[in-house]
Amino acid sequence: MNRSWLHLPVLLNEVLDGLEVKAGGTYIDCTLGAGGHARAILERSEPKGRLLGIDRDPEAIQLSESQLIPYGERVRLVGESFVRLEALASAEGFMPSDGVLLDLGISSLQLDNGARGFSFQTDGPLDMRMDPQGEMTAEHLVNELTEAELANIIVKYGEEPKARAIARAIVRGRPIRTTLQLAHVVASVAGRRGRIHPATRTFQALRIAVNRELEALAAVLPQSVAVLAKGGRVAVISFHSLEDRLVKEFMARESRDCVCPPELPVCRCEHKRMLRILTKKPVRPTIEEMRQNPRSRSAKLRIAERV
Ligand SMILES: C[S@@+](CC[C@H](N)C(=O)[O-])C[C@H]1O[C@@H](n2cnc3c(N)ncnc32)[C@H](O)[C@@H]1O
Repeated sequence: MNRSWLHLPVLLNEVLDGLEVKAGGTYIDCTLGAGGHARAILERSEPKGRLLGIDRDPEAIQLSESQLIPYGERVRLVGESFVRLEALASAEGFMPSDGVLLDLGISSLQLDNGARGFSFQTDGPLDMRMDPQGEMTAEHLVNELTEAELANIIVKYGEEPKARAIARAIVRGRPIRTTLQLAHVVASVAGRRGRIHPATRTFQALRIAVNRELEALAAVLPQSVAVLAKGGRVAVISFHSLEDRLVKEFMARESRDCVCPPELPVCRCEHKRMLRILTKKPVRPTIEEMRQNPRSRSAKLRIAERV
């Protein structure tokens, strides 16, 4: 069955144009998901372009494997975290590459499958692991952390103003085993903000903590540049301000020759610029795309070129 339509690739043309995908190029999709971006990259790089697809979710690899069969030897897929990007690219013969894509967060395949525990709208176990072999589940965090630790996660990764009240309600409501149970506890102290469900920020925070998403992003960004050929490009799609800030600051730093504090009269760092930023402001989806795919609403795309 063709299930790839279950996740619509976000900012697809903007990514293809931004990466300047060309015939015979070599590309790495670090966040394969349902393979939507990967397939489009393979089509645009015909007849000989190659693609390395990485995802830490074995279901994404399995689905993409079936979707990408027609491209045969041009595709390599690896079920691992992108924190090992450099080692994986080297082992699979993708060093150097012409383009690297990071389309962060979770896919609709993961969100819509209640059994994965990402959704506050479908009941399921409080799991939220992208990699089902991962050590930490949301159930563990929700039931084992102290109130202060929980509040800290919810405020840090969810930017939730009611974090303390939510953490208190969670601790009082223990044990909490399912997603709907948690959503109910959160909703009892945090009201709806317009059309946004009251549990949105808390679920985002727990998901980021369970999967150590910001640590993974910080680890992959320098590697995404290290695997690029001169003139190669890196494209990053982020879905919330914490991710976007990391990407923006990384690109800004790597596009400067000196990163010494401004008060130093002479340069001591000897830092050399590696990137040229191609998107001064992040690229946003068109109104048409947001209408067709509401999940694209918060997407921001930043692109830079290796110099
Ligand atoms: C937004 S989806 C990508 C969708 C994809 N671009 C498409 O067109 O179908 C993000 C994917 O990245 C994966 N992912 C997130 N963090 C990862 C990491 N550290 N290593 C590998 N894959 C990761 C998730 O499992 C998910 O499948």
